[in-house]
Amino acid sequence: MDPIKSLKMTTLAENLVMAGGLGQWGFSLLLELEDARGDPRKIMLDTATEAKGLLHNIEHMELDIGDIDCLVLSHNHYDHTSVNVPIVEATGGVKVYAHPSVFESHIIKNAKGKTREIGVPKGQGIPEIEAAGGEVLLSRSPVEVVPGVWTTGEVPRRTFETPMDLKEGNQILTEVDGEWMQDTIVDDQSLLMDLGGFGAVVVSGCAHAGPVNILNHVKELGGFPEVACYVGGTHLSGRSDEYLERSITELGGFGFKILSPCHCTGFKATAKIWRAYPDEFVLNYCCREIDPLDPPKNRII
Ligand SMILES: [Fe+2]
Ligand SMILES: [Fe+2]
Repeated sequence: MDPIKSLKMTTLAENLVMAGGLGQWGFSLLLELEDARGDPRKIMLDTATEAKGLLHNIEHMELDIGDIDCLVLSHNHYDHTSVNVPIVEATGGVKVYAHPSVFESHIIKNAKGKTREIGVPKGQGIPEIEAAGGEVLLSRSPVEVVPGVWTTGEVPRRTFETPMDLKEGNQILTEVDGEWMQDTIVDDQSLLMDLGGFGAVVVSGCAHAGPVNILNHVKELGGFPEVACYVGGTHLSGRSDEYLERSITELGGFGFKILSPCHCTGFKATAKIWRAYPDEFVLNYCCREIDPLDPPKNRII
């Protein structure tokens, strides 16, 4: 994997917020980088739930998304895919990378049998993205979205981790070839890149594949001995104390310099990660900028 030259990450949508930003339940991140050839690039990961907060934060940070190189969708959930069309429209047409299952139906069914769609909302799917000028590129395997930045593709599930914590009696289901099956969120994928001497960087949406599974997969894909930086959701929200302790202990084995869990990590797990790794922990919130090569900028305020 050819190393990229520089990287700045700005959180465009997140649960937490500092002065000036607008928070929401959802996630979106902008990566601004110099790619493996030294060319400037912009990649947007996910489009959150509400256009209002997302577009406000983009304007507040004086960011221009009109020239992004691509939009990558980490997985199907509505809190990552609800503003697809406005973003594609704002770019005047852009490549949109996703796993094919992102655009299938995904529902949650409660103990009483009541169902609710939790995937890509109506009006934000492939036909509407294409009508807005977007080019949808579907793949189950890793894809190099700009020189030096790759998607993980499907992540092998080899650890204790499960896709999400569900209340008693609740099920998540997806339609495969006309049949409703248990949803393993097979589409969950992250971005990975080698930031030269700094090391490997991973950016995730919700990490339904499990952060430990994802990080192991990244090490294999890139031939990395360690992973220097993780930014994104971990889906540790609502997990048992035992599950949390196990996850947090295993995260300690990757050699992080920066660990910035956010979104579906939840407050309890975030606080525990901070206590376990105070020197590596970087608090994330709307409009947070993380520059791995500029450590003083990344400290907790
Ligand atoms: Fe999710
Ligand atoms: Fe999420």
